[in-house]
Amino acid sequence: MAQAREQWTSRTGFILAAVGSAVGLGNMWRFSYLTAEGGGAAFVLLYVIFTLLIGLPILLAELAIGRGARHSPIGALAHFGGRAWRPLGLLFVASGFLILSYYSVIAGWTVRYLLAAFSLDWGSDPGSYFGGISQGGPAVIAHVGFMAITVVIVAGGIQRGIERAALVMMPALFLIVAGIAVYAALLDGSGPGYAYYLSPDFSKLGDPELLTAAAGQAFFSLSLGMGAMLTYGSYLQRHNDLPAEATIIAGADFGVALLAGMMVFPLIFALGLEGQVIGTYGTDADIGSVGALFVTLPGAFTQMGPAGQIVGPLFFVALLVGALTSAISLLEVVVASGIDVLGWQRRTTTLIAGGAIALLGVPSALNLAWLDVADTIANNLFLVGGGLGLAVFTGWIMRDPISEAAGTATERALMRLWLPLLRFAVPAALLLVLWYAVPATWSKLVGLLG
Ligand code: PHE
Repeated sequence: MAQAREQWTSRTGFILAAVGSAVGLGNMWRFSYLTAEGGGAAFVLLYVIFTLLIGLPILLAELAIGRGARHSPIGALAHFGGRAWRPLGLLFVASGFLILSYYSVIAGWTVRYLLAAFSLDWGSDPGSYFGGISQGGPAVIAHVGFMAITVVIVAGGIQRGIERAALVMMPALFLIVAGIAVYAALLDGSGPGYAYYLSPDFSKLGDPELLTAAAGQAFFSLSLGMGAMLTYGSYLQRHNDLPAEATIIAGADFGVALLAGMMVFPLIFALGLEGQVIGTYGTDADIGSVGALFVTLPGAFTQMGPAGQIVGPLFFVALLVGALTSAISLLEVVVASGIDVLGWQRRTTTLIAGGAIALLGVPSALNLAWLDVADTIANNLFLVGGGLGLAVFTGWIMRDPISEAAGTATERALMRLWLPLLRFAVPAALLLVLWYAVPATWSKLVGLLG
């Protein structure tokens, strides 16, 4: 027999959970390293444009579909579009599997770094410390440990697990990130960091590689294109004002990314470490781009002396909290589908899904190159492709998306802009991105296998 669908207890609870999904490793680790590799402010600018023109419309679409159908992705798409759309929902579940499998490996590194940060265990050679913990046995253990924590929270359900975790953790994250950004501003020599980060080199804007990366990042950071926001929306009630919620979520997500950059770049420039991370785009720097911040920032904490023993642990707490609330939403997509489609119990589903994802993550924990490829496939293909599917679905297939999404009369008027975006601009932009991304991802995969 179908159980009554769970619901958020409060609007704040929902918003914090959704912001918790959005804010994560994507805002701090991924955003910073892509910005560092990809030309600083030019990348930031592209990312802002994609967030506003593509991210926000799709976020609203996901919330509206989820709330309207009150079902996890597979059933929700079938509800509005018929059974032919179930494969798109399946792709979402597959994305959840794939992303969480390596996301949890990086979160596992974060756990290790947090434990090491109190005594700055990496000493004067953070590079070899990273080498030691990022691949192989230690990485597998930390990854499995992190998955276990995620499973426990998701097994607790929407109110007692997911919402409660977000209510406690997200405010702490904001305070820490803002605090470190202020601290970084007070350091001597942080000026060039801001310049690199905030004044764009416009000649780079047309670079297809940068374009693809910025689009993938806009999706990843807002948790879009794989049904996470759709699933969270399915626990909402009718009276929520979706355009307002979507704006708050996107604003908070962007705000944290911006702040994260204001903590990372001033810090590494002030301490003279920029040579390690800046402008390595497309090169095969030894530690690999994905590891760069896990080497450079710890180095910065060591150089700070005693202050580093405070800033370091705080930084990794924030990173871990962000990772956890995001991992929760990734797992929830898979779990909600198990519950809704297969009729399983939440606890059993969570345990099975969590175990399977932990297994799938082992190759990423053993080999950094594999992690990098999984991340590229997930972002540049799955999320961008999923976003394209969602735009077409909402723009062309749903009968009355505006009534599903809009609350007030003003909003209905604004929606006249939303629908053409979803119908034309978003699909066109995403097709262009895929045009570049498919061959690039393919050659990366071939590079790994060959
Ligand atoms: N948005 C999360 C982050 O920035 C990652 C994520 C992607 C979470 C997709 C859920 C779905 O870290």
